[in-house]
This record gives sequence, structure tokens and C-alpha cells, in this order.
Amino acid sequence: MNNKPVAIVTGAAKGIGKAICARLIKNGFNVIAVDMDPDGASGLFTELGNDSLEYHKMNICEELKVKELFAELMARYGRIDAVVNNAGIIRDNMIWNMSVDDFDAVINVNLKGTWLMCREAAIVMKAQKSGRIVNIASRAWLGNRGQSNYSASKAGVVALTRVLALELGKYNVCVNAVAPGLIDTPLTQKLEKDVLQQLINAQPSKSMGSPDDVANTVAFLASAHTQFITGQTIYVDGGKSIGANM
Ligand code: NAI
Repeated sequence: MNNKPVAIVTGAAKGIGKAICARLIKNGFNVIAVDMDPDGASGLFTELGNDSLEYHKMNICEELKVKELFAELMARYGRIDAVVNNAGIIRDNMIWNMSVDDFDAVINVNLKGTWLMCREAAIVMKAQKSGRIVNIASRAWLGNRGQSNYSASKAGVVALTRVLALELGKYNVCVNAVAPGLIDTPLTQKLEKDVLQQLINAQPSKSMGSPDDVANTVAFLASAHTQFITGQTIYVDGGKSIGANM
């Protein structure tokens, strides 16, 4: 056991989540990496070492597992300084082709899973009178064709963030969201090449962002130096959210 601050990161096995783990470890955190990927641990430990890292295979949609995670960590560490809710999925389609299953799956992980993690984080942080919650939303909350489920889930994450900032403000707990645009991860690597190129062309930056771009912003919001920033949504999107010239 050491005296480092403790951060939980969900969706940690790859992509943006893995970059967030790496950044927070560099910034001196003990990182609790949470992911439902059974093979997620091997890659993480190989790349990030195991001095300040532990892996929990868990589905953030399972209420009891989420409660158990926080109880176990509190028993061992006695504090949780930051929770980064990054786990998310897409199931894209135009609404006339979208199944209820694809709607439910996306809302369940992106919104309900994030809410379940936030509830436990709020209970712990309210009692300890300190903490940082960073929720990964998406620029798509502003609206994206083919993403009625995903955009709605991320708009929910933005609203959740604002409400929790109000509810937790007087307990010295800051709650913010980061809204990435097009980021080069396994999620976007699944897109058809021509679709991806169109998306890049529509960027003011004419480029994709890297997971580190998001991780650096998350690390800033998760640090103890940001006690007067709360309820905000910070875009990391190469200017796409400006919306002009599209
Ligand atoms: P990714 O697909 O590369 O990684 C997501 C990770 O979350 C995976 O390791 C997966 O196993 C895990 N996960 C999924 N459902 C889970 C659950 N129920 N419980 C626990 N773990 C679960 O995704 P990527 O690109 O790294 O995205 C991370 C976050 O950033 C997501 O919330 C995504 O919506 C958001 N985002 C990503 C953008 C991009 O361009 N890549 C753009 C905007 C937002």
C-alpha cells in the first residue's frame, strides 16, 4: 500500500481508456483499470507495468458488481480520488433500421453504466468531501446522423454531469465531461476506409485526434488543481463542434 491518490478508469483495456490509465499513472495515481474484456489485463500490464495498476474484469452495467468494486477499494485504500467513466459502445444505424436491442444496448452501457458508477462515486466522495468525476461524452451528443441511440446516450451523460456538479458542489467534488471528436482507436478503426476519410475531411483540423489528446484533458480535470471547474463539457475534437462550414 502506498499513499498515492486512487483513480478508477472504466473501459480501460484499449483505446482512450488505456491512454487515460497511462497518463494518470505518470501523474502519480494508483489506477484501478476496469473493463469487461477478459484479455484486457495482459496488454495493459505489459505496456504500463504493475506498480501502480490493478485490473478488474467487470461489466459497468451490473449494479451489484459496481457496488462491490467501490466497497472493496474503500476497504483497501480508504479513499477514491477520481473516477473516469470512459467505457462506451456504438451500434450505428439510421433510425428506420435500428433495432430496439441496439438502442437498449447503447443506452445501457453509455448512460446507465455511467450513472451506476457515478452513484457509487458520489456516495464515497460526498462522505470524504473531495473527489473528481470525469465522464467521457462525445461531440456526437450535438447530433450525428446514424447515431440516434449513441447521441442520446451521450447527451444523457452531459446532463448527468451537470446535475452531479450541482448536487456535489458543496462537498468539494467536481464533475466534468470530456467530449472527444474523431479519435484514432479500435472503435474508429472498425469504420469503412471511405467513411473514415469523409469524417476526417469534415474536420477543421483535417485530422483525427489521438487517445493521448483526450487523456491529457482528463488528467487535468482529474487533478486536485481544478477545484473551480465543474459541470463543464470540454471538447477535444479538432474544432468539429464549432459547426460552421460543414
Ligand atoms: P474502444 O471500443 O476502443 O474501447 C472501449 C472499451 O470499453 C473496450 O475495452 C470495451 O471492452 C470497454 N467496455 C465496453 N462496454 C463495457 C462495459 N459494459 N463494461 C466495462 N467495459 C466496457 O472505444 P474508444 O474509442 O476508446 O472510446 C472510449 C470512449 O470514448 C467511449 O465512451 C466512446 O463513446 C468515447 N468516444 C470515442 C470517440 C472515438 O472517436 N474513438 C469519439 C467520441 C467519444
